[in-house]
Amino acid sequence: MDYIQKYIEVHKERFIDELFGLLRIPSISAKSENKMDMVAAAEYLKKMFLGAGADNAEIFSTNGNPVVFAEKIISKDKPTVLVYGHYDVMPVEPLEEWNSVPFEPVIRDGKIWGRGADDDKGQLFMHIKAFELMNRTGKLTCNIKFMVEGEEEIGSQHLGQFCADHKKLLEADVILISDTTMISPEIPSITSGLRGISYMQVEVTGPSRDLHSGIFGGNVVNPCNALCDMISSLKDKDSRITVPGFYDDVYECGVEERKVMSERPFNREKYMESIGVTALNGELGYTEIERTGIRPTLDINGIWGGYTGEGTKTILPSKAHAKISMRLVPNQEPEKIAALFEEYLAKIAPDGVSVKTRYLHGGEAYMSPIDSPEYKAAEIAVESVFGKKPIPVRSGGSIPIVATFEKVLGIKSILMGFGLESDAIHSPNENFPLEQFFKGIESVPRFFENYAKFKGAR
Ligand code: BES
Ligand code: MN
Ligand code: MN
Repeated sequence: MDYIQKYIEVHKERFIDELFGLLRIPSISAKSENKMDMVAAAEYLKKMFLGAGADNAEIFSTNGNPVVFAEKIISKDKPTVLVYGHYDVMPVEPLEEWNSVPFEPVIRDGKIWGRGADDDKGQLFMHIKAFELMNRTGKLTCNIKFMVEGEEEIGSQHLGQFCADHKKLLEADVILISDTTMISPEIPSITSGLRGISYMQVEVTGPSRDLHSGIFGGNVVNPCNALCDMISSLKDKDSRITVPGFYDDVYECGVEERKVMSERPFNREKYMESIGVTALNGELGYTEIERTGIRPTLDINGIWGGYTGEGTKTILPSKAHAKISMRLVPNQEPEKIAALFEEYLAKIAPDGVSVKTRYLHGGEAYMSPIDSPEYKAAEIAVESVFGKKPIPVRSGGSIPIVATFEKVLGIKSILMGFGLESDAIHSPNENFPLEQFFKGIESVPRFFENYAKFKGAR
């Protein structure tokens, strides 16, 4: 056991207790009723940063939820690592699907169960504890800064401005993020890319009130039917998106890139079993790995309208709604895609209904180089803890602020994630294996060690 493993062994119970304190705060950014919980989470984090040894920790208010900043500067001559994470979590519905209470974390079967256990409180906490470890053992080799936000799950709408306003404060050589997954502990991976996103809400209006479906049914364009028809025509039989211009800017991967991707292990049967489906479907001409990693998609996140309560009610609804998101790939611009989407929906709407489309949030895709000193540092760190060289994987998920970091701050991000696909993030029964949590804590100081070495040698 070296000093890293020893420190973790001695302090692990407390690490868990402190994480549980954060997990108990229901910081759901999507809901206005949880506004005060956002502040409580920010304050809790500030305390944690100071306790771990930060020179200073500050809460910045924004037009949205507060941003927590903390730092410890050891020397002007050392490289600076900026750690990013988010303390906000997704809503917990459907509650009846949970085996334990979402904001009452528990340990069962070697895993931490609760909303945010992985995404991203658990993964963020690894960094806070790794910082404490480096600090207390006198092994901090780089300057360290933390920026933790409370709006990631709703599109990080105010963080871009925060970055633009605090460029000096946020100056760093690299941004380190644990908010992604690895394939498995046996096949460790580092995320080399993220998809972008355009998130839309559609409202279709027909008659000025709900109508008796017997008296009027047969004559009236039903907005629910119309919305369904419109949405079904957004993809063709090959699962290609039909919005004109949608693919115009898509970065097409070359043969070499696709070959590397095809070498990544993928077990179709296990994959289907893990999510409880008996078949998969996606864009013709691409593998499953390509469909999430390098191809854009369009999906309904929620759809409603008319009567959805108990029993029956015979009506022709006045309105229908849907939340639709498109995952984007490099070169696609979220605003442009949103505009194309809106234009096309207006065009295909049948006479008799009107359509209102709103762009809720968006973010660009991101790609990180896999030959940079920071990638190498992460690679060695993960290999030394998991015993195998991690493979780079382009993830299907999005962290919208990462592209903004590059544009506004001019800093590249390293996505060293320790979540597993089985962690059920955004779903009922979110969990995070203790083993991943502790291995994550162990990996971070090893990253710092190597990063300082590589940067110093240049
Ligand atoms: N941590 C996830 C993103 C993620 C998870 C990336 C797993 C790769 C692998 C993040 O919190 C998230 O859920 N992002 C949202 C962004 C959206 C709300 C703008 C997403 O991807 O849906
Ligand atoms: Mn996250
Ligand atoms: Mn998330």
